[in-house]
Amino acid sequence: IYVNKIAVLTSGGDAPGMNAAVRSVVLLARARGLQVLGVERGYTGLLESDFRELVSSDVDLVLRDGGTVLGSARCLEFHKPEAQDRALVNLQNAGVDSLVVVGGNGSLAGARALAKRQGNQTTVKIVGIPASIDNDIGLTRSSLGVDTALNTIVEACDKISDTAIAHQRTFFVEVMGRQCGYLAMASYVAVGADLVLFPESGKSEAELVESVVSAITAVRKRRPGGRVLIIVAEGVAVSTHRLKGLVDGLCVEKHVCEDTRVTVLGHVVRGGRPSAFDRMLGSRLGNAALSALSRGKNSKMIAWMPPLELTGHTAERSPVDPHCYEVCLDDVLSETERLLSGKSPAASWRHSAVGEIESSLL
Ligand code: F6P
Repeated sequence: IYVNKIAVLTSGGDAPGMNAAVRSVVLLARARGLQVLGVERGYTGLLESDFRELVSSDVDLVLRDGGTVLGSARCLEFHKPEAQDRALVNLQNAGVDSLVVVGGNGSLAGARALAKRQGNQTTVKIVGIPASIDNDIGLTRSSLGVDTALNTIVEACDKISDTAIAHQRTFFVEVMGRQCGYLAMASYVAVGADLVLFPESGKSEAELVESVVSAITAVRKRRPGGRVLIIVAEGVAVSTHRLKGLVDGLCVEKHVCEDTRVTVLGHVVRGGRPSAFDRMLGSRLGNAALSALSRGKNSKMIAWMPPLELTGHTAERSPVDPHCYEVCLDDVLSETERLLSGKSPAASWRHSAVGEIESSLL
């Protein structure tokens, strides 16, 4: 038996579906007679031994809740090796032999650091579950929260379209995604918007402004009334309010008469009840994580249908779920870096697919 006492934490930006993952780990572990500790507020709670025992009744109704019942934090102190050592001592003192980390890039980097710090003498095995609305984690087709965030954006854009059409206006809708434009690109397709701006395009401020004015001109030719909808990823080279000002200026210069508005969706995109898909994904990733730990696996992440054919990495299929794979945290983090720098085949594919759709519209 590899697991006796398991701890679970959620860390970094919260994502709808985190609760589903925590719930499945707790319910399945308790059904096997294991003890489960919930760590409050991510790595911050780990450094303070802020643990509480979890039983099934603590989590059985949390599936439909957004956010995370365990709380979360961005813990800068955890970057220090001394802090990682303290965390390991805290876990050992609590009798924990296995840890599930539910979170994004920073959190998974923390999980790998904890695994590495133990060298060959592993006392606490660690498995990660990808959770980030940005879909910026390498080797998983989707991370927790992405689907819900996309549904939220689609709903918001549908509402904005009502007023935009009524007034024949152009709307800039800014969506989250600091380093990764996935939410912007995917919602552009799902909403049927007229243009998408994302950091991976590498466009300068002047190029962005020019592309917006060209899009407005082209759309107005084929649709004189109605709306122009432009989705902007948070991480593009210019702030959305500044972009509006520059676009308005260029429109005046070019004698294009257009009334523009900005809506920044911000943290609204991160909240709300998880979609059916995120509830299902969290439950299945949690199941596969517990299975991996029970078979003695360490320093792994459970990936959802990893695009192995695009990346050249290897992975082991989970014996409890044909769509879940056990991938090395090292591979996840190196693939994440390639994804964020636009150098991975997955990033190029996203970019070119959006380009093709755009060119069919303009
Ligand atoms: O979790 C990812 C993310 O939502 C990014 O899209 C966004 O830039 C960032 O978190 C915001 O983080 P915080 O809530 O810490 O300001």
